[in-house]
Amino acid sequence: TTAKPLLGKHVLVTAGPTHEPIDPVRYIANRSSGKQGFAIAAAAAAAGARVTLVAGPVGLADPEGVSVRRVETARDMLAAVEIALPADIAIFAAAVADWRPAHEAGSKLKKDGSGIVPPLHVTENPDILSTIAHRRDGRPGLVVGFAAETDDVLENARKKLGRKGADIIVANDVSPANNVMGGAANTVHLVTPEGIESWPQLPKDEVARRLVHWIAGRLPPTA
Ligand code: C5P
Repeated sequence: TTAKPLLGKHVLVTAGPTHEPIDPVRYIANRSSGKQGFAIAAAAAAAGARVTLVAGPVGLADPEGVSVRRVETARDMLAAVEIALPADIAIFAAAVADWRPAHEAGSKLKKDGSGIVPPLHVTENPDILSTIAHRRDGRPGLVVGFAAETDDVLENARKKLGRKGADIIVANDVSPANNVMGGAANTVHLVTPEGIESWPQLPKDEVARRLVHWIAGRLPPTA
């Protein structure tokens, strides 16, 4: 299509997992392929936006016409997001690790045969969505979060909208039976303060296209 509803807009997207190092060879991560976030970045570019994609470690090529910043940890991702601001729209599709090891070992932890296992102490990562949505200065005009849930999908999404300060939560049911994680299709519910809109199961790139146009239609009018 030739419709360019996001011409002149800067769209920031996060995608993929984060890797939180335990030692030089091990990490904590989330199960995320990055496909949905990359598809959103590509769709936003196709809709005319200037797009910055902050991506965790994934095996996906840079979408055409998108500036990609590759990061590893949640802290790196937050820093890259802050550098990329200001943005008209920020879409937080990354599956950020909630916790990271409190200490990163400088060399590989060894299994020494004694049966004594190393303790894994974790500490909380910054919540990127919540941090950006609660900014007083330079908050993006529209802040969109995702809620990947296995239970009480809509109720959890509604709570997340308030707690995280987002304008829109895109909720999806990632129960293993749905094969969303790593799969090519997604079923989403768009949760806003005004209500909930549910879409049928669609390919992730079609979800991305529709989502970008739906979001463009909700942009606050500019002076
Ligand atoms: O709380 P939960 O992880 O389910 O929230 C998901 C939403 O919050 C997603 O939009 C995700 O990108 C964002 N998030 C984040 N930073 C975190 C955790 C989640 O930006 N540390």
